[in-house]
This record gives sequence, C-alpha cells and structure tokens, in this order.
Amino acid sequence: MINDKFLSNIESELKTLKKEGLYKSEYEITSQQSADIEIFHQDQQKKVINFCANNYLGLANDRELIEIGKRALDDYGLGTASVRFICGTQDLHKRFEERIASFLGYEDVITFSSCFAANNGIFAALFDENDAIISADLNHASLIDGIRLCKAKRFFYKFDDMAQLEQKLQEAQNCQNRVIVTDGVFSMDGDIAKLDQICELAQKYNSLLLVDDCHATGFIGANGRGTAEYFEVEGKIDILTSTLGKALGGTAGGFIASKKSIIDKLRNKARPYLFSNNISPVTALTGIEIIDRIEKSKDLIEKLTNNTQYFRKKMLEAGFDLRDPNAIHPVVPVMLGDAKLASHFATKMIEEQGIYVIAFSFPVVPKNEARIRVQISAAHNQEHLDKCIEAFKKVGKELGTI
Ligand SMILES: Cc1ncc(COP(=O)(O)O)c(C=O)c1O
Repeated sequence: MINDKFLSNIESELKTLKKEGLYKSEYEITSQQSADIEIFHQDQQKKVINFCANNYLGLANDRELIEIGKRALDDYGLGTASVRFICGTQDLHKRFEERIASFLGYEDVITFSSCFAANNGIFAALFDENDAIISADLNHASLIDGIRLCKAKRFFYKFDDMAQLEQKLQEAQNCQNRVIVTDGVFSMDGDIAKLDQICELAQKYNSLLLVDDCHATGFIGANGRGTAEYFEVEGKIDILTSTLGKALGGTAGGFIASKKSIIDKLRNKARPYLFSNNISPVTALTGIEIIDRIEKSKDLIEKLTNNTQYFRKKMLEAGFDLRDPNAIHPVVPVMLGDAKLASHFATKMIEEQGIYVIAFSFPVVPKNEARIRVQISAAHNQEHLDKCIEAFKKVGKELGTI
C-alpha cells in the first residue's frame, strides 16, 4: 500500500523541481510530426513551428512512407506478440537488418525496440570483470546505464581530451579486452567525437571501439553513413549502435552493427533482445525504403546542411552564444545558463512567437548550462527558419540575453 509519507516526499520533490526551474512538463501535439505542428495548450489548439524534433530528414510524416507503413500493417499486422527467438522474427526483420548492414558496411545487424534497449544490453552481453570499458564523460544515459549493468572495470575520459583517453588506455592495458565507448555526436551540444584520433588510439592500444551514432546515422557524412564517414574512418568502428527514432523515420527502434559472430552472440545474450519485443513491421518496411532513398539521393542531406549553416550564421550574427561558433551539426545549443531563464525563454517562444523549442536544464545538462536546444530539419523551409531567428531576436532582446 502507498503510505502518505511516501507520497508527500514525492510531492515535495516535485515542488522543488518546479521551484528550481527543473520540472519537465509536456505539450500535447495533436498533429503529425513535421515542421508545422499543432499543440493543445491551455485549453486551446495552437499552430506552431517545430524546432525540437530529431526529425532530421523530415521523413516522420512523409506521405509515401505512410502508405508503405499501411502496406506493412496489411501484410504483417500490428506486431509479433513475441520476442524474436520465440516467434517474433518476420522475414521483414531479417531483410531490414541486412539492408542496414549493407548501407553501413557491416557484416550483420541486430535490431532492438529502441537504441536505449540496445545500449542497455550490449555491455553485459559482451564484456565481463576481466575487461575494461573506457567511456566518454558526456555519453548518452543509455550507454551509462548499460555500462553500469556490466561487471567490467570502468574508466572515464573527458569526451574531447585525447591525452586523457590515452592515459586511461594505458591504465587498462592489463585487462583482457578494452573497449572505448563514445557517442558519435553528443546530443546536447552537437559536438562530434574526434573519431579520427580515437581510432588511432584504439589501434595503438589494441582496443575495441564502440560508437553510438544516433545523432549522425542518415545525415552526417556526405552519404549519410555517419561520423565514421565524416572522418573517413569507415571500417574502423568495431561496434556501431544507432536509432530508427531520429533521421531514419522517427518511429521506435534501434540497432547494433558489427561482425557476424558478435551479432550472433548478442542475439543469444543481450537481455533486452531476449526478453522484449522487437521493432514493428511498419518500422522495418519503412526503414528499408528510407535507406534506399538515402542511397539514391543526397537532396535531403544537402537541404539539412544548408538549413543548418544558414541558421547558425544568422544566430551568431544576432549575438547568441552557440557554444562552438564553428560547429556544423543541426543540433544548435542556444546557451542561456540559468535554468529559470531558459525555461521562461522557451515558454515565450512557444506561447508568444509560435516557435516550439524546449529548454534543457540539469540533470539533462550540467548545472548552470541551461540552454534551448534548437534542432534543424530538412523539413524546414526558408520561412520557418526566418520566423525562428526573428522570434529568438525579439525574445532575446526582451529578456536581455543579446
Ligand atoms: C546518443 C543517443 N543514444 C541513444 C538514444 C536512445 O535512442 P532511442 O530513442 O532509439 O531509444 C538517444 C535518444 O535520445 C540518443 O540521443
């Protein structure tokens, strides 16, 4: 039974979060995911322009893909009602895994219900107390949690400090296996890991390399093959994890790409794969089409790149602090520092300017580094971008941040 003390403790914790500007509330979106969306807020339907979806290529409501999704429903049903190894593997799952593998240049791929699940399951399945995991400090929560579930020795390095990474590799030399673990792109700031240098260190110290490329697969690199393509180190990332929930359509799903035997071991040992349902038929069939499209045409990647360059340039000219003025990623952190200010800024953007952006504060980002994380998409047109920039300038002047 829930007793009063338990509930009153939770309620006072929630009050504190609100007081500190750290409470996360949710707007209800009543339309498809796109650049122009509708939200239901304060008993009113409101049209806003969305600048915070991970819908990098703008495919989440693509008409043709929706029709393909309907075909998947007709042919394969809603789902498998089973985990993969019992009776949850449709031919579609295998075709999709092969398609991802051939796109990214790996021997094999295993899908999961999410990349969070993939990252949660991978470490305990592959490493034990004789091994060392050397992890970047800003890695995604799912990697951090996955590493916690594994008995390997843990080492941490500042994500961009290669001297510290080398030192940790030296400290881990006596371990049976070493694996460097890094996000390809760190999602709060759009920082890209120094994969060229990390690959060299991995080779020098005989270490495996695992990269989470959720914020890169499909659009970073000239052909969208991710951070490895961007740094020209394809073939040197031993294990790649990524998501289907961002550029590749925005549904729910994740995957791991690697050598055949490693993927085979994961099919037998990774607990979120063994004990949880897999991706839906809609995700698999639309995913195959999306990868075909990315391979056939660079138009969406180029549009996303041009939109990002334009937005970054105009925001810097307006005087906003974007952390790294030379960054290239469509995640654009508009730094505001104080959590309450960031939350107030975002509310004004939504309610007064019709620009849907969200403030990020502790514990999602470090204390006193609150920001509005803008996410640029190929779904945005010139008018969307200009409206957003003008709104930032207006609110920025009102609140004294520029
Ligand atoms: C770097 C990174 N890894 C993993 C995930 C989890 O992805 P998914 O939504 O597929 O669980 C995310 C999503 O926010 C992410 O940004």
